[in-house]
Amino acid sequence: MDILLTAEGRARPFDRYRQLREIAPVHKTAQSPMWFLTRYADCEAVLHDPRFGKPDPSGGAGGVSGATASLSSAFTRHGLVFLNPPDHTRLRALVSGVFAVRRVDALRARIEEITDTLVADIGEVLEVDAMDALALPLPITVIGELLGVPAQDRNQFRTVVRDVTAAMEVGVAPEEIASAAAAMRDMESYFLELVARRRREPADDLVSMLTRSADDGLLDIEELVGTLILLFSAGFETTTNLIGNGLNTFLDHPEAWALLQQRPDLVGAAVEEILRFESPIQVGSRMALEPAEIDSRRVEQGEMAVLFLGAANRDPLRFADPDVFDIQREPKPSLAFSGGVHYCLGAHLGRLEGRVVFERLLRSFAGMHRVGEGPRWRGSLVLHGLEELPVRFERR
Ligand code: HEM
Repeated sequence: MDILLTAEGRARPFDRYRQLREIAPVHKTAQSPMWFLTRYADCEAVLHDPRFGKPDPSGGAGGVSGATASLSSAFTRHGLVFLNPPDHTRLRALVSGVFAVRRVDALRARIEEITDTLVADIGEVLEVDAMDALALPLPITVIGELLGVPAQDRNQFRTVVRDVTAAMEVGVAPEEIASAAAAMRDMESYFLELVARRRREPADDLVSMLTRSADDGLLDIEELVGTLILLFSAGFETTTNLIGNGLNTFLDHPEAWALLQQRPDLVGAAVEEILRFESPIQVGSRMALEPAEIDSRRVEQGEMAVLFLGAANRDPLRFADPDVFDIQREPKPSLAFSGGVHYCLGAHLGRLEGRVVFERLLRSFAGMHRVGEGPRWRGSLVLHGLEELPVRFERR
């Protein structure tokens, strides 16, 4: 099980996924039974089955490791991603309008503007860590503006969110759980304070909008703060990894970048292929809320299903030649944004940011090359991305 336990296994899990899928696609672990699913059809079926849901937020084992539950306070546990219907349905309805396709498309000009500034800065020096110069600052600025987190406050969250998400991993060390819990408390007090400020001085942003809804009795303070923390962290960690993983994949496949230079109309398809090929979230989980079946095998109430989304996205029964990066492959949805009631709320926004970045890079630079020893992976599995990606861009 070195997919879960070694840094190398977590960073490049794909061979291990294949072995697991070939030997035991529906694998039941011996202790505290968990079901490891690596086929597309089984993961998709669980995501759409109402007998599976999130563990009870009031306690018990949460997530793959249980660490998420042990570190999280009442606030974080009430973010909508941790809830089941009907609370989930009510909370999701309150925020879903902001992430609707039409509303997000209206952000395109601003996303282009932010990207252009970052790309112009890269143009000055040409050799950069692309994570630091582009993949991190773009999504954090976009979600920060949408929520109404002031610009000067945003950078502190780079490390805070990282500390929090480190504890979502499997087999985390106790000191990581402790620093995640401290980081979580920092986020909670920050957002509680921001809510109080926006209550006094409302602005045209999501924090003000949701604070109004809370004052109207549509959600409680724990759900409000939990959802703000969730939106903020989900809004940039994942998109950062879409951009970073995408650039890294193009550096490995210069022929695909050359094709995109000739056919910029393929940029949307390229983003879908990156999402499938190097999915920014590799693992999801659900608990059986009542007895159920997976692939005709009985699952008892309370047992967890670990959904290897990154494995499902490379399942040959779903995608022909799944280990080939092909931006012209037959379009078919992947599970990169999960599925069912928790399907990613920010999917359209994440895709749009990805498209704009690659469009702008194609337009601004003649080419890009790897420098140094190659990329440094974060060594985490759930959030699949790079620590550092040194790149040299070539002027036009
Ligand atoms: C490429 C970028 C992104 C990827 C790959 C991604 C992936 C995912 C996945 C896999 C889930 C499902 C979790 C589950 O099933 O338990 C999810 C949920 C969610 N995502 Fe994203 N995400 C991305 C960008 C964003 C952005 C930009 C936002 C904006 C705020 C966002 C907000 C959310 C929220 C709020 C949920 C919870 C939805 C619910 O539980 O109903 N995501 N995302």
